[in-house]
Amino acid sequence: MSIHPSPLDSPKVTTRTLQEMKQSGIPIAMLTAYDYTSARILDGAGIDVILVGDSASNVMAGFETTLPITLDHMIYHAQCVVRGVDRALVVVDLPFGSYQGNSREALVSAIRVMKESGAHSVKLEGGKPIVSTVERLIEAGIPVMGHLGLTPQSIYRFGGYQVRAKEEEEAEQLKADALLLQEAGCFGIVFEKIPQELAAEVSKSLSIPTIGIGAGSHCDGQVLVTHDALGLTTDFNPRFVRRYGHLDSQIAGMVQNYISDVRSRSFPTDEESY
Ligand code: KIV
Repeated sequence: MSIHPSPLDSPKVTTRTLQEMKQSGIPIAMLTAYDYTSARILDGAGIDVILVGDSASNVMAGFETTLPITLDHMIYHAQCVVRGVDRALVVVDLPFGSYQGNSREALVSAIRVMKESGAHSVKLEGGKPIVSTVERLIEAGIPVMGHLGLTPQSIYRFGGYQVRAKEEEEAEQLKADALLLQEAGCFGIVFEKIPQELAAEVSKSLSIPTIGIGAGSHCDGQVLVTHDALGLTTDFNPRFVRRYGHLDSQIAGMVQNYISDVRSRSFPTDEESY
């Protein structure tokens, strides 16, 4: 039982808070961050979960896929984010190549993330093939979030970013994988780009929270890449992205104002000088 009247009153969001939110029917809000300043703003605004996603590979480093980002890079981003967070639960993606080899390698990677960044948990992509790894991490005391459906680290196997689990066989596999991850001890699972009916059915059947991205409104929470939600990215337009602003053009406008002030010598004024 929670000591707080509402899980939203928790001074710190923990995996237990998320569980209580699911039980109370309160949707969980999760966004990505990769740096101190953004993390501080998201946390101050009341976000429940901050994901240090390997989408940093795309939006921070400019790579086409999430595959190139390294464990050292992820730890650096996680360190920056953790310094900006007081309340949110911080989840860090284990990057491609840092956990698929075997469960010992995964444990070493996850321990590095937890020790060197101070983050609260890790996220791994995949189902049955990584279940023993998930168990090993959890046995070591590391909270693990799963990720099923469109798992971007497998993009070359999928051959593209299409909606996953539309066919019966893949949908059945996803249901089985979700159950295995829950039984292995995951505290939550991200469902990316799957049919909303399937996400709704699995979310209802699981006792742990599900977080959707392109998986409809019946998941227990939602996640977006912050750069997409704020309109900092403009060349990525899947239908699941809702833009809460157009920061790219606003920032460009502000930069043009600055350039014009510099050119006209109206910046700096005497008041802005010593
Ligand atoms: O890396 C990431 O940002 C993610 C989200 C898309 C869920 O895994």
